[in-house]
Amino acid sequence: MKGIVLAGGSGSRLYPMTAAVTKQLLPIYDKPMIYYPVATLMLAGIRDILLISTPRDLERYVDLLGDGSRWGLSISYAEQKRPEGIAQAFRIGRTFLGNEPAALILGDNLFFGSGLSQRLAQASTLTDGAHIFACRVDDPQRYGVVELDADQRPLSIVEKPRHPASNWAVTGLYFYDRHVVDIAADLKPSARGELEITDLNAHYLKAGTLTVERLGRGFAWLDTGTPETLMAATQFVCALETRQGIKIACLEEIALAQGFIGSDSFARVAAAAPVSAYGRYLKSLLADLEIDARPVPLRVAGAVS
Ligand code: G1P
Repeated sequence: MKGIVLAGGSGSRLYPMTAAVTKQLLPIYDKPMIYYPVATLMLAGIRDILLISTPRDLERYVDLLGDGSRWGLSISYAEQKRPEGIAQAFRIGRTFLGNEPAALILGDNLFFGSGLSQRLAQASTLTDGAHIFACRVDDPQRYGVVELDADQRPLSIVEKPRHPASNWAVTGLYFYDRHVVDIAADLKPSARGELEITDLNAHYLKAGTLTVERLGRGFAWLDTGTPETLMAATQFVCALETRQGIKIACLEEIALAQGFIGSDSFARVAAAAPVSAYGRYLKSLLADLEIDARPVPLRVAGAVS
């Protein structure tokens, strides 16, 4: 399975923070926001990633992430010339995806929870239909909303409903079979002129091949579109990291734990890391590795995104 990170948009709700810096490069505590969705794809076992952003911002992502080889990834880039909706990612990513199933994650979505890695790994085995995640929220009007029957089967899915049928918001992480590019190619723009991801999901729902997995208690799903939610995400990551001495979305740690890089590569990256809290963390993992000679540092056990 291949992965797409969509990091477009003007970030207007965060103006003037986003006047010169694209939203998904703003910090969430100690690292750029984009690290979190990239980490989520890595935890799903995905190494071949297309990052889509605006013509203005794409270069900055290249500066930050390069070709991804530091983390054993292959990262390529594509422009979204005009913001015409989330499902446009599959038109832009058509050649990249070829005939493969795809995971799409929005660049401002942060996931964290015990057992998340296993769930992601399971989702990435999908070959037929579509699989999405739903989280309970207090303000479902802001999201795509899914209504589920007693057996967790989806009954309806509606984008930003005025009268939501449930409190279950659809998160910005989607898994699709290889037909997604053709379905996206046939989508018509909505009333607000966008190729809606919800319409894509509704297509699978109608075909009876959409499955929905609830992320209940014990999971955090944060988006970061407003100053308040940006601050809440920072406080959340800060509280967990400082209390536990682990890092969330440390790409080098995940790359090592997933076997995307070996301990020699990890050692090189960690040794060369600048002196920052993040750099010190890498060096501390390196020290653990040297003492224990374990292939995988234990601190990554559990969920790291
Ligand atoms: C988008 C989707 C929505 C989804 C949300 C998750 O909304 O359209 O269905 O629930 O992402 O973050 P947006 O954030 O673009 O308003």
